[in-house]
Amino acid sequence: MIVPVITIDGPTASGKGTVAHRVAKHLGFHYLDSGALYRLTALSAIRQNIALDNEDALAAIARVLPCLFVKGHVFLNGEDVTDAVRAEEIGVAASKIAVLPTVRQALVDLQVGFRASPGLVADGRDMGTVIFPDATQKVYLTASVDARANRRYKQLIEKGFSANMEDLVKDLTERDARDISRTSAPLKPAPGAYVLDTSQLTVNESVYVVLDLYAKALKLSSN
Ligand code: C5P
Repeated sequence: MIVPVITIDGPTASGKGTVAHRVAKHLGFHYLDSGALYRLTALSAIRQNIALDNEDALAAIARVLPCLFVKGHVFLNGEDVTDAVRAEEIGVAASKIAVLPTVRQALVDLQVGFRASPGLVADGRDMGTVIFPDATQKVYLTASVDARANRRYKQLIEKGFSANMEDLVKDLTERDARDISRTSAPLKPAPGAYVLDTSQLTVNESVYVVLDLYAKALKLSSN
């Protein structure tokens, strides 16, 4: 039997991580935070003083990334780096290395390996376009830049990081531009993806929409 996958792609701070996590929990599915893999690669490179444009060295790190995801915690080489990978500068570094095709290729097998019974919810930028093109339901989650900057601000403050709205809007806009304009797996809605603007929606409402879409997709595929 084919293991079902729900892909949730979208720009930075569109709320996809929170929504994807809740949907996975509700369905009892596995969850892939693909952005964390780019962040872990970036963190590992920075710690080893590897330049963020050294494609071969970065791909070598990504190919054997010693990462582990346990109960919402992220480990790199056995060290709990859950908070460290969420820092804004690591997100910016991740988006710089994510333009490099060899780095993206090096992470493909790791991502595909997350597909396991009874199902997977995968969030990122290219889950529906590149990694799981045969997903049962594809969603493209978006929101206005202001709504996303506000959410990111709250997230960072809650985690004890300092944050400044003006810098965040600048970071988000630059990261969007990099993600959308890169030639390798650019950010865009996958063919057939449902585009959901969450600017005016609560997390619960967004989760409900995704669950409803998935239920309908399942019904369609069983007919
Ligand atoms: O989603 P998150 O902000 O954690 O991702 C960090 C960066 O990794 C993104 O800005 C994006 O450039 C990159 N990324 C990607 N493809 C994915 C997931 C993340 O290019 N599937």
